[in-house]
Amino acid sequence: MQTPYVLNHKAGINGLGAGVWNLGPGGDPFGGPTREAIPMIDRLPLLAEAGMSFYEAHDHEIPASDADKAKKRADECGLKCGMYTPSFFADSVFKDGGMTSNDAAVRKLALENAKRAVDTTVQLGASVMVFWNGREGFDFIMAKNGRDSFKRLIEGFNAVGQYSKEKYGDKVRFGLEPKPNEPRANMYLANVGEGLYLISRLDSDIQHLFGMNPETAHSRIAGLDYVWDIELCLEAGKLFHIHLNAQDGQRYDQDLPFGYTEPLKDMALCMVLQDAQYEGIICFDVKAPRTDDPKNIQDVLHVSAKNLTWLWNRALEVDRKKIEQLRADNRATAIAGYLAECLYGC
Ligand code: GLC
Ligand code: MN
Repeated sequence: MQTPYVLNHKAGINGLGAGVWNLGPGGDPFGGPTREAIPMIDRLPLLAEAGMSFYEAHDHEIPASDADKAKKRADECGLKCGMYTPSFFADSVFKDGGMTSNDAAVRKLALENAKRAVDTTVQLGASVMVFWNGREGFDFIMAKNGRDSFKRLIEGFNAVGQYSKEKYGDKVRFGLEPKPNEPRANMYLANVGEGLYLISRLDSDIQHLFGMNPETAHSRIAGLDYVWDIELCLEAGKLFHIHLNAQDGQRYDQDLPFGYTEPLKDMALCMVLQDAQYEGIICFDVKAPRTDDPKNIQDVLHVSAKNLTWLWNRALEVDRKKIEQLRADNRATAIAGYLAECLYGC
C-alpha cells in the first residue's frame, strides 16, 4: 500500500487522482482485452492502493444507480471523487455526438444524461463535472452544419448550467476537455481556444460555472504546446481541472505515463502551476498498456506519480529571478539550458 502521493507546497487541494477507466482490460481498436476486466467499483481500492487520493468516472462506468455503492467503497478506502463525466461517446445512440447530433431526440437524451450526471456528481461529492468532446464532431464535411452545431453546444451547456445553478447554486463547476481528433476526424472544441470562445458565448449568469480541463496528450496530438494551453486557461481564470499524461508525437492518443516523453516541458508546466498557485485537483489520464500483466496494472499510476513529484520538486528549485534576468538579456537558449541543468543536474 502506497501512502497517498502529495506535492510539496501545492496551493489548495493536494493529492493526486486518476480515472477508473485508466485501469482497463487493455483492449484497443485492433484487438480485444488482454486482461480480465476488473469491476468498476473494485478499481477504487486499486487506485487508493497506488497512492491516489481521488478517482474519476464516467456515467457508464459508475451509473447513478451505483452511486451509493461507489461512495461507500470510496469512503472505506479513503478516496474522494475528483470529477464525474457524462459519456456522449460510448453508447451507439451517440454515434454522431450528443449535443451536436442532427437528431433532436438524441440531443434531448444527451441533455437528460448531462442533467442526471450533475445530480450524480453532487451525490458522489465531486465539485467538477467534465465534458469531453468525444463524438461531438464530424468525419465528412457538410455532414453537419458547423454553425448549427456550435449553437447547439451553446444551448446544451446553457441548459445544463441553468439546471445546475437552480438546483445546486455554484456547487458544481464544469470543465470542458478539448481534443482535436479521435474518435472523430474533426472534433468541435478541438483546443483550449475554442473552449474558451464557447464559454464566452454562454449566458452571463452561468458563465462563471464553466472552465477548462486541458489534457497533455490532447494538446500534443494537435501539435500545440501544453504549457501555453495551461497558461492561457490560467490567464482566463478558467483552469478548473487538469489531466496529465504524455504523448509520443502526433499520432493516436496514447495516454502514456506523465513525464515519459517531454520531462523538461513537464517541469516547466509544474513551474507554471506553482507560480499561479493552482488550487484545483491534479489528475492523471493514463492508460495501463495492454502489454502489462494484471498484477502490474497500477504501474502506470506509480510511474506517473513518481515522475510528477520528482519534476514538481525540481520545479520548486528553479530560480525564477534567474529566468527573468535571462529573459531581460534576450537569452532564450540559455533559459532552455538552465532548465535542463535544473532537471538533469548537469
Ligand atoms: C474519455 C477520454 C478522456 C476524458 C474522459 C472524460 O475517457 O478519453 O480523455 O478525460 O473521457 O470525459
Ligand atoms: Mn482526459
